[in-house]
Amino acid sequence: MQDDALRERLNLLRTQIDSHNHRYFVLDDPEISDGEYDALMSELRRLEERRPDLVTADSPTQRVGAEPAEGFSEVRHPVPMLSLSNAFDPDQFLAWKERAAALLERDDFDLVCELKYDGLAVALTYEDGVLARGATRGNGAVGEDVTQNLRTIKSVPLRVLGKAHPRVFEVRGEVYFPKSGFRQFNEERAAQGLPKYATPRNTAAGSLRQLDPRVTAERPLDIFVYGLGYAEGDAPATQWETLRYLGDLGFRINPNNALAGSTEQALHYCREWLEASENLDYDCDGVVVKVDRLDYQRHLGVVGREPRWAIAYKFPATQAVTRLLDIRANVGRTGAINPYAVLEPVDVAGAEVKLATLHNEDYIRSKGLMIGDMVVVERAGEVIPQVVRPLPERRTGEETAFEMPKECPGCAEPVARPEGEATWYCVNAACPDQLVRLLEHFVGRGGMDIEGMGRKLGRTLIESGLVKDAADLFYLRADQLLSLDRMAEKSVSNLLAAIDAARNRPLARVLTAMGIGHVGSEAAALLARRFRSIDNLMAAAEDNLTDIDGIGPKIAESLTSYFSNEGNRVVIEKLRGAGVRLEDEAVEEPANRPLDGLAFVVTGRLRGFSRSDIAVRIKELGGSVTGSVSKKTSYLLAGEDAGSKLADAERLEVPVIDEAGFKDLAGGA
Ligand code: IVH
Repeated sequence: MQDDALRERLNLLRTQIDSHNHRYFVLDDPEISDGEYDALMSELRRLEERRPDLVTADSPTQRVGAEPAEGFSEVRHPVPMLSLSNAFDPDQFLAWKERAAALLERDDFDLVCELKYDGLAVALTYEDGVLARGATRGNGAVGEDVTQNLRTIKSVPLRVLGKAHPRVFEVRGEVYFPKSGFRQFNEERAAQGLPKYATPRNTAAGSLRQLDPRVTAERPLDIFVYGLGYAEGDAPATQWETLRYLGDLGFRINPNNALAGSTEQALHYCREWLEASENLDYDCDGVVVKVDRLDYQRHLGVVGREPRWAIAYKFPATQAVTRLLDIRANVGRTGAINPYAVLEPVDVAGAEVKLATLHNEDYIRSKGLMIGDMVVVERAGEVIPQVVRPLPERRTGEETAFEMPKECPGCAEPVARPEGEATWYCVNAACPDQLVRLLEHFVGRGGMDIEGMGRKLGRTLIESGLVKDAADLFYLRADQLLSLDRMAEKSVSNLLAAIDAARNRPLARVLTAMGIGHVGSEAAALLARRFRSIDNLMAAAEDNLTDIDGIGPKIAESLTSYFSNEGNRVVIEKLRGAGVRLEDEAVEEPANRPLDGLAFVVTGRLRGFSRSDIAVRIKELGGSVTGSVSKKTSYLLAGEDAGSKLADAERLEVPVIDEAGFKDLAGGA
């Protein structure tokens, strides 16, 4: 075949196959037989084998990459991936709607009702119509690049349908493991003598984090898309149109989405799906109701991580009755003694439950739980199973009361309960169980990510005396490790390599790994971004900490107390001594910071920005935002209907600017 003719044939085959894929995997409405489809695919494969130079990344033959990945790199979401606030009954739902109506000063706006898929959120970025990147939600700000795995999902277009689309745009949706596929998958595993997976959601998450995309490709994952993260240029003006638009581009949209003209209609949708969701082939844990108009959404804005323009109406959790066989306790990494329920195994909505958290002593008392009771247990989505209440009418007289252990279940030293707290603590700094947990957290995926270091090896290292704190890991030598049971040359050298790699983790990971109370990955990322090094952070006053958006007094206090502890400081110095990087390289500051050093207060309604958008913008340009006007305020940015802050500014002679004035200051930005 002539080159031109060949190119043309390749192009035609790809377009045809894409279209048949779309009909089959997205619309569930195939037009041709499997045999005809296979014939097209084999012709394409044959031609591509002959001319590898003409293979394109978006060719339907290229869904499964050849080589397993070494790991996943981080992706910072250009627009944060938010959470949702919940309503658990009609009153809470109505309260949400009324609040939105009050802020919008009208209540005749449309609502879009969608199911709340219980999978995991992903962001798909398309450049020039071709899938360029796919990422997990992660902590909302930073996720993982799982492009190679998302490509294996047949309903994810490798290139969009049609020519008219923004040059760059990001689609958001939920990846899930279909229920039927999950049952079959588990049956196959059982037949091979492999352990079963617990829930479709966890299994979907695990499947998406496979290093080898060939493994992901074997799992029947699917996706529903529900929104645009961002789009260059023009985009639809409402959520309802967005869904249609995304459908036209070839994405898989849920057929049960509905546009509600009234609150009653939206509530009706919620009630209907509460009954009917069981029959779907995917898990749903509620309904998401969204304000339809996107300009209204912007006006309503976001509080913390939760938009005011949407709410999750959650289905009640599923419950079951079983026997409370025992109450035991373990010790966590902070020394907290955690009581938990040992239950007669019971199936709750498709998952086996045999353990449940009991939080603390007061929780057990207030529920009046006795060992041997029949109890109601509940499981809601991803939440750890809970014991709701005992059924005292089913007591036999054999039940026994629970006594909180007076000794640590790990080290048998006495436990203590601080004034005003519900939790007992093991105060023995050398408690091996505490250390095992701490170490497990330290080497975990969100932390130093040391592969090959599970809880078991952690325990062995601690019991052998080789590791007395987390920093000791970095001082381990091959001969020491070889002296341990079941450690051969190969595993020792792998482990040492993994430990070595961990010396170079970004500061945010190190901070997360330390296990400082209330400092999770999100707070750690904020702190790392602001302070850049552990020394700067340790030198920071509590005020400097709480100045950061997202760092509250609880976190600040916890940090201060952590760093004032001598033992913790010793560990930090040992980490430093072992060559663990405790600072981030200086990032290039954006050259253009016209608001450097300026302090803003924002009040009233703005036209071009939501409240959170403007705060982000000001910070990006070097300025800061505070809540109330003082003499230190550089400018009050006042929108429509500005209230008392305007008077404050006038009294304190703080300059007042409007949006146009702000744009001038910001250099047109
Ligand atoms: S909208 C407002 N729509 O729920 C931002 N989210 O708690 C939320 N989810 O991580 C995204 N179904 O994974 C939206 N129809 C739907 C959804 C949905 C499930 C998940 C999503 C997000 C979480 C928020």
